[in-house]
Amino acid sequence: MASGPKLPDAAFRSAAERALIGEHPTIVKLRVLVERVAATDATVLITGESGSGKEVIARAIHTLSARSSRAFVPVNCAAIPHELLESEMFGHERGAFTGAAGARHGLFSTADGGTIFLDEIGEMPMQLQAKLLRVLEDGIVRPVGSDRATRVNARIIAASNADLNAAVRKGGFREDLFYRLQVVPLIIPPLRERRSDIPLLVDYFLGRMRQRLPGRDWTVTREAMVNLWSYDWPGNVRELENMIERLVIMCEDSVIDAPLLPANLAAAGRMAETRIPATLGDKGVNLNALVRELEGRMINEALKQTGGNKQAAARLLGLKRTTFSAKLRRCGVIAPATGDERDDA
Ligand SMILES: Nc1ncnc2c1ncn2[C@@H]1O[C@H](COP(=O)(O)OP(=O)(O)OP(=O)(O)O)[C@@H](O)[C@H]1O
Ligand SMILES: [Mg+2]
Repeated sequence: MASGPKLPDAAFRSAAERALIGEHPTIVKLRVLVERVAATDATVLITGESGSGKEVIARAIHTLSARSSRAFVPVNCAAIPHELLESEMFGHERGAFTGAAGARHGLFSTADGGTIFLDEIGEMPMQLQAKLLRVLEDGIVRPVGSDRATRVNARIIAASNADLNAAVRKGGFREDLFYRLQVVPLIIPPLRERRSDIPLLVDYFLGRMRQRLPGRDWTVTREAMVNLWSYDWPGNVRELENMIERLVIMCEDSVIDAPLLPANLAAAGRMAETRIPATLGDKGVNLNALVRELEGRMINEALKQTGGNKQAAARLLGLKRTTFSAKLRRCGVIAPATGDERDDA
């Protein structure tokens, strides 16, 4: 067997894996998948809300792959004007369009031997989708205004924060391209569905602040942590990251306490309350979702009141400790470590 490009060494691999922080079962599974697809050239479609880590995953796949010594080229399909996207991606000939003074290579050529990351792929115009499909099928790129075709060997990773499947149903995205892209679909859950990772991420971002501001250190009070963890984080990990930076800047005497938190974060518990209607109404309700919501809220409340003590929280809810822990795991919530009890039994 011919020896292919060298795979990254162990230290490099573990650094890439560490970039993806999280111990929630969904993240652990994701990390395994990332490692597995990194060993192949399969096209990957990453779906996740804004700020949930799509680019982190794409970079990890590239870094762990045999292509890691070559370029990782991110292309934000939503940020580049539609009329320029084609020439940006595939290059153009001299005089191909007004303003094309000289011939130019496209980003696909830049990514030759490496990885091209097509972010917000759902925003790609239909006509370009057809062209991309051809690249995926035969690996051949045709610059704008050229009849010359060049072969490129770029691994394609695409990402979308919207449900591409829905876009296909509405006719905004080609079905054939959709299936061709998601040879391996990776779905990143929003942060609110893996709240148990919030304390870990807080620690991680504080660690990064320590590196930026040597000699400084911060502690997060239990109450502040419970608030951070009750909030729904619509901006996901990016929002949490920005929040930690803001709290570090604003806190005095290195203590991050609940009163420092912005009002929307402190009101997270109160907002949850409005989602449970008092009456059935004409349209009915989703009882299972409401029960889960109520369960999650009461668990959060109990943990808040007991400062994260699971035994005491279980007692407040009239549950056995084991039942309580099972519910915690199902909600994707764990109690903040109190130091004296870290077991999850
Ligand atoms: N699991 C994670 N561990 C550590 N940092 C993370 C994780 N997920 C996301 N981040 C950080 O959060 C920020 C947002 O991540 P990223 O840019 O990958 O999100 P995205 O899904 O591509 O967002 P968008 O949809 O807005 O492009 C980055 O600073 C990234 O480093
Ligand atoms: Mg992104």
